[in-house]
Amino acid sequence: MTSTLTISNLTKDFGGVKALSEVSMHVAPGERVALLGHNGAGKSTMMKVILGLVAADSGEISVCGAAPGDADARSKVAYLPENAMFHSALTGLEQISYYMRLRGEDSVGAMALLDKVGLGAAAKRRIGTYSKGMRQRVGLAQALIGHPRLLVLDEPTSGLDPVSRRDFYELLDALAAEGAAILLSSHALTEVEARTDRLLILSRGRMVAEGSLAELRRDAALPVAMHITAINGYDADILAAIPNAIRVNDAVHVTCSQDEKLATLAQVAAMKGKIADIEVIPPSLEDIYSHFSRRDGQ
Ligand SMILES: Nc1ncnc2c1ncn2[C@@H]1O[C@H](COP(=O)(O)OP(=O)(O)O)[C@@H](O)[C@H]1O
Ligand SMILES: [Mg+2]
Repeated sequence: MTSTLTISNLTKDFGGVKALSEVSMHVAPGERVALLGHNGAGKSTMMKVILGLVAADSGEISVCGAAPGDADARSKVAYLPENAMFHSALTGLEQISYYMRLRGEDSVGAMALLDKVGLGAAAKRRIGTYSKGMRQRVGLAQALIGHPRLLVLDEPTSGLDPVSRRDFYELLDALAAEGAAILLSSHALTEVEARTDRLLILSRGRMVAEGSLAELRRDAALPVAMHITAINGYDADILAAIPNAIRVNDAVHVTCSQDEKLATLAQVAAMKGKIADIEVIPPSLEDIYSHFSRRDGQ
């Protein structure tokens, strides 16, 4: 299937700061891709280049078959900037109606869009009275105008409470099911991993990892931890029998590689008369994220 968005060897330098270095990626129709990275990693710059708001130094970009910023690309791409600003004196309905007219759409559908993002009841209140989460939804309603083929959403869930986040991802699921390609940035892996098809990790302008969470987990090959609670008095036996075991408070902790996991568990199982409980703790999402986002050769 042809990609909605394809980027090859994109580089962007801001007066000596390498915001993006040789970045390549693609997003297919119906695909939800999360762009992850710490502050300053280059996420917003990449999005602005896709939109044609910032010119790349080198590299190739195809947005719905056109060059970034072309009229054809602009009509098919929606953008939610990182800090979307709206006119506080307008109501949500007035603001969205205005944006619809700007895009050459009939503003009669403005209320339906606001309903879709959960702002129906507040549509006739001034944006100045909205909470941060509500303003974020105005931004999302704005991004949905005109059935975009590609949605570029810069940290769309920052400021949203957990229920609003869930609603937001459900909305994205419905758009992706209709064939829209979605690229959203975040600095929280925990949040996006269950709700997107693929993860991209940027670190200091370089694409350091790409894949599903299972693929990233495998590639990172981080150690597994086991926390063992001994039956009273047997701690010393366990410490003596299992290499690398250490005492931490009232428990015995063991770390081993993924490859050693079963062998270590077998050693533990062999001592079952002396063990009250065992907890096996896989690397956390944050561990995996940190592993990649710091592995940047600096
Ligand atoms: N207009 C600009 N002028 C100079 N430097 C910039 C500009 N925009 C971004 N940068 C720099 O480029 C790097 C990447 O920034 P950005 O894309 O905003 O990262 P992120 O969105 O991942 O936090 C940072 O070092 C930032 O300071
Ligand atoms: Mg940013």
